[in-house]
Amino acid sequence: MTDLDAALAPELARLEALRLRRRLQPMDAVDGASLRAAEAALLSFSSNDYLGLARDDRLQAALCAGAARDGVGSGAAHLLGGHRGVHQALEEALAAFAGREAALLFGNGYLANLGMIGALAGRGDTIFADRLNHASLVDAALLSRARLLRYRHADLQHLEDLLKTAPARGRRLIVTDGVFSMDGDVAPLVALTELARRHRAWLVVDDAHGLGVLGPDGRGSVAAAGLDEAAVPVLMGTLGKAFGVYGAFVAGSRILVDTLLQRARTYIYTTALPPALAHATLTALDCVRGEPWRRERLREHVHALRAGLAGLPWTLLPSDTPIQPLLVGGADAAVTLSEALRARGIYVPAVRPPTVPQGTARLRITLSAAHTATDVERLVRALRELASG
Ligand SMILES: Cc1ncc(COP(=O)(O)O)c(C=O)c1O
Repeated sequence: MTDLDAALAPELARLEALRLRRRLQPMDAVDGASLRAAEAALLSFSSNDYLGLARDDRLQAALCAGAARDGVGSGAAHLLGGHRGVHQALEEALAAFAGREAALLFGNGYLANLGMIGALAGRGDTIFADRLNHASLVDAALLSRARLLRYRHADLQHLEDLLKTAPARGRRLIVTDGVFSMDGDVAPLVALTELARRHRAWLVVDDAHGLGVLGPDGRGSVAAAGLDEAAVPVLMGTLGKAFGVYGAFVAGSRILVDTLLQRARTYIYTTALPPALAHATLTALDCVRGEPWRRERLREHVHALRAGLAGLPWTLLPSDTPIQPLLVGGADAAVTLSEALRARGIYVPAVRPPTVPQGTARLRITLSAAHTATDVERLVRALRELASG
């Protein structure tokens, strides 16, 4: 054991003892709803591929044709020759989809949040953030060196108190997930826009889990709430979840996007997204817009799951979205339940602290249009059996 290993090993042992040690589990995709693990094929409720597009033939064909045309890699940063026509076309299509003047592509959602927040806030500014925001938004705020004030989850009164007492000077950003990634609930967006307006703040919404799933044509949680660019001037969306591909974008005014182009370090100092992915994403966008049956099927699954799991000893958190967390409590109990499901051929990951607060370990059940009604029934039956015995 090297000195480095000797220094690191006790922490791994500590996590192991608490059943908090994370481990990779290689699993191959069988189809949109199943994964092949070492022991067997598993019906999976773990993917953010909510619309079931990740394995769609048309996306695969677009990816291959796009690679043949523009190459696999872009070879350079956007500002140094890596920006292809297809990137431009995708940005324009995403801006139109989001109902915004312009959009800028990022490598992924984590990078988009780091770059966008860092470009908009710095020393002397204040970021008001929901306590359950995604880790990338927390890291972005910390890295920006702005003052970070976190309000209790969806607690508008707490947010207003902070807005009133925080220094008035500098920029003020209210930052929230649109759909909370580990809870599945939707942020109180209309009320947040009102607070932003009254307290001179800009509202930033990360709609990683709402885009494609909620709102008219899948335009996301912001459109579902009837809010436009004036109300939500900064909108982030990811392309690796409902869109079934990879990447992310920030959409807003032309001036916002031009500012990001000058200042977002995770846009400037990194290789542009593979153009083949941009081709696949354009096809995904057509599917998101043009195939509302996928959202309809998802809604049916959400209703069936919630009706089926009523009355179990574990609490299904209130959520209308495809993220349906089953609160178990202790990390140990959550892992045990996940393992018991796995023994029955069903994969639902346990999510434990620090990803979620202490004492709120859960099974994060995610539904997809790739599931059938029978798949959902199978999960319900397995959980009911485990609850009764
Ligand atoms: C709310 C939220 N924002 C951002 C991200 C990061 O997006 P990406 O996976 O594209 O990096 C995620 C999840 O991964 C998320 O859940």
